[in-house]
Amino acid sequence: MRIDIFTIFPEMFDSPLNGGIFKRAADQGLLKMKVHNIRDYTHDRHHTVDDYPYGGGAGMVFKPGPVFEAVETVKTEIKDNDNVEGVPVILLTPQGELLSQEIAEGLSRQSHLMLICGHYEGIDERVADHLATMHISIGDYVLSGGEVPAMVVADTVIRLVPGVLGSPASPLDESHSTGLLEYPHYTRPAKFRDWEVPQVLLSGDHAEVNRWRREQAITRTWQRRPDLLEKANLTAKERMFLESVKTSERGVKRGADPS
Ligand code: ADE
Repeated sequence: MRIDIFTIFPEMFDSPLNGGIFKRAADQGLLKMKVHNIRDYTHDRHHTVDDYPYGGGAGMVFKPGPVFEAVETVKTEIKDNDNVEGVPVILLTPQGELLSQEIAEGLSRQSHLMLICGHYEGIDERVADHLATMHISIGDYVLSGGEVPAMVVADTVIRLVPGVLGSPASPLDESHSTGLLEYPHYTRPAKFRDWEVPQVLLSGDHAEVNRWRREQAITRTWQRRPDLLEKANLTAKERMFLESVKTSERGVKRGADPS
């Protein structure tokens, strides 16, 4: 996979690229990440990338020219060996579609992504309308720019590319891939301070372990993210188990608060 990142703070990517998943994927030859400085595509003495908003108001707005030129230049440079017109051009913005595991899975099947990091009060709307093909937000909060969101998108996507993670089965089982939060994990020692590992995990009975893990996943999803259960794929037996969890939790809550 190739990922091109367009930013006015390219140095922010230096250390993430030198460790963890990005380095691992690059060392395996599975990722080529290129960071482009949008300022290199300006033509004035001060390398201006922002300007005052038409209509007035606070803050500055990212000019469209340098962003268009940066993305279009990179597209022409790679035209020979890529179906460049179909490459997703993703604008990171708090107004975008909320990033999900499903979106990450879709993007991981692409061979090339372009990520544009916005800044200031916003980016000229013509970038959103006529250059970007997708707008992604990483959550309902506002960051100072699109760099950290771009790293988040790149990380969620890269780890799904076949071969990047050691064990091919692991991404399929984890939180969100199954529509549920993941079950709890334990490793040695079996007793740490006063806390013991659940007995079933030491039993060697794989069917029991699997059943326990599934029930744990259902229980904690109900406790922490009940909204996810609407879309979760549960068997009739699991639905019954969920109902019993809900009933017993209501009992616990009633017991704790007699009002
Ligand atoms: N830029 C600023 N805040 C953002 C967010 N929540 N998601 C994506 N890009 C952003």
